[in-house]
Amino acid sequence: MLPSTDIAWVADHLSERFGMDKWQFCLSATDANRFSLRIARQLTGKPKIVVNDWCYHGTVDETLVILDHDGKTISRPGAIGPQVQPGLTTIAVPYNDLAAMEQVLAGGEVACVLMEPALTNIGIVLPQSGYLEGVRQLTRKYGVILILDETHTICAGPQGASRLWGIDADMLVIGKTIGGGIPVAAYGMSADISRRVENLMHGHDLDVSGIGGTLSGSALAGAAIRATLTHALRQEDFDIAIPLATRWSEGVQAAITHHELPWTVQQLGCRAEYWFEDHPQNGAQAAATVNDGLESYMHLYALNRGILLTPFHNMALMTPFHTEEDVDLHTSVFTQCLEEIMS
Ligand SMILES: Cc1ncc(COP(=O)(O)O)c(C=O)c1O
Repeated sequence: MLPSTDIAWVADHLSERFGMDKWQFCLSATDANRFSLRIARQLTGKPKIVVNDWCYHGTVDETLVILDHDGKTISRPGAIGPQVQPGLTTIAVPYNDLAAMEQVLAGGEVACVLMEPALTNIGIVLPQSGYLEGVRQLTRKYGVILILDETHTICAGPQGASRLWGIDADMLVIGKTIGGGIPVAAYGMSADISRRVENLMHGHDLDVSGIGGTLSGSALAGAAIRATLTHALRQEDFDIAIPLATRWSEGVQAAITHHELPWTVQQLGCRAEYWFEDHPQNGAQAAATVNDGLESYMHLYALNRGILLTPFHNMALMTPFHTEEDVDLHTSVFTQCLEEIMS
């Protein structure tokens, strides 16, 4: 509520990086998504949102959904206490399925599509060629706001995956990493969206119309984001971290190939992950490959040998502070683990 010079610098910097016109700040990526959904509904006057089956955008109740066997949108296992049955507000569509997307958007009741450029929360699922371009075309065709959640996919590079892949969003969400550990997030708006949002914000009622909460964009938040964007998350940092993720993937793949296992590795920038099956093409296929027992075993095996894998995934996230020695330690522990499993 109290602007600072840092936050103005940060907004300009984010615009340069991600190509959005204006930014609002909040305290978590969950909130950035929630605020973006409010704005999309208000601007379009449409009641429903679209997300990908098995997506994760934080604890926004209406996004915690999957498709059931009959193609109905229902609460995702583990979701607790949604205000209403989320099928009332949300339509899930499988990732990498343009026909399903078009069918839903053509219904005319959708305010926005909220999605990650690549799924990263049910393992990494990359877009098939033409998928993201197709989603962009369809959202334009049906007047639906496209919100890209880059909270995780910033791992692809300093400008995130959408710029790397040439996809324009109407709104863009970024959180976590940009604060270097301080709770901050931001959502950006294209020139068209920000102009329409500004029209909603006038007079005394402004305090409920979308500026966020009391601590949004605080002096501490501004200073933290400015420091992070100045000293980390730069091209030179990714130039160290991405090759480490490639080395990690190659080490894991070599052990998998040696044992002729049907497992695979997927890399997106400085993030890499292995699967116990072939590469899934959407969230449901990815969810079907989860093997809790084996996953726990791999995590514990690594943990006992000095390596903490990211919880809920078989994933490594590289920083510029990791070294080739760290990666090689993982490769040797992973290789040894496979040898014990296979013996
Ligand atoms: C893509 C994505 N968006 C949003 C969030 C929510 O972030 P936070 O828990 O910081 O609110 C997450 C958390 O993992 C995420 O993966």
